[in-house]
Amino acid sequence: MKKTATKKKILSVAVFCSGQGTNLQAILDACRRGKISARVVVVIVDNASALAISRAQKAGVPVVFVDPAQCPSRAQYGKVLAAATARFKPDLIALAGFMRILSPSFVRRYKGKIINIHPALLPAFPGAHAVRDALAAGVKTTGVTVHFVDEQVDHGPVIAQRPIPVKRSDTEETLLRRLHRAEHQLYPEVIQQIARTGSNKRVRSK
Ligand code: GAR
Repeated sequence: MKKTATKKKILSVAVFCSGQGTNLQAILDACRRGKISARVVVVIVDNASALAISRAQKAGVPVVFVDPAQCPSRAQYGKVLAAATARFKPDLIALAGFMRILSPSFVRRYKGKIINIHPALLPAFPGAHAVRDALAAGVKTTGVTVHFVDEQVDHGPVIAQRPIPVKRSDTEETLLRRLHRAEHQLYPEVIQQIARTGSNKRVRSK
């Protein structure tokens, strides 16, 4: 009997970044090592000096800079962003330190396909200073969250969380280092779960 080859589905991922791109790097490395059935098809940045750009270029991934200065409103930015994204037909959009609020129409267009990583156990400490805020609040445990994106900031159904204990000696820098380590494991794991199952079920916390 003739064998029919079943082709493994590779998830096409667009990664949006504004800065360092260490989470982007973790995703690129996981793809390169075959740890996840995914491929980064484009990196979109809102900042022309983001370090994420050179990480993408080194991996041979196209980079698109969508310049906020060219767009008078969030809605306009969302339109340009959607057009840039659509060219690459991603199955999934992973926000990796993309420090810009997406327009409602962009979120609606890609509903259920946008995920974000955040350095806190949401709903605690949303926003741009999650690590500083957790330290200031004196919590004993913080952590990282990956969630589907809705129209609010750092908000939407949680896919996975990983708690990280806060040490009494922690500074923003030392805590962020441990949070980043957790993020770099968790984000590829979640992407792999989505690639494997297409599901939005929670990834079990370790
Ligand atoms: C990450 O820690 C991510 O969780 C955070 O930005 C950092 C980007 O680092 N995102 C947010 O705070 C979203 N509100 P990276 O550019 O090195 O991946």
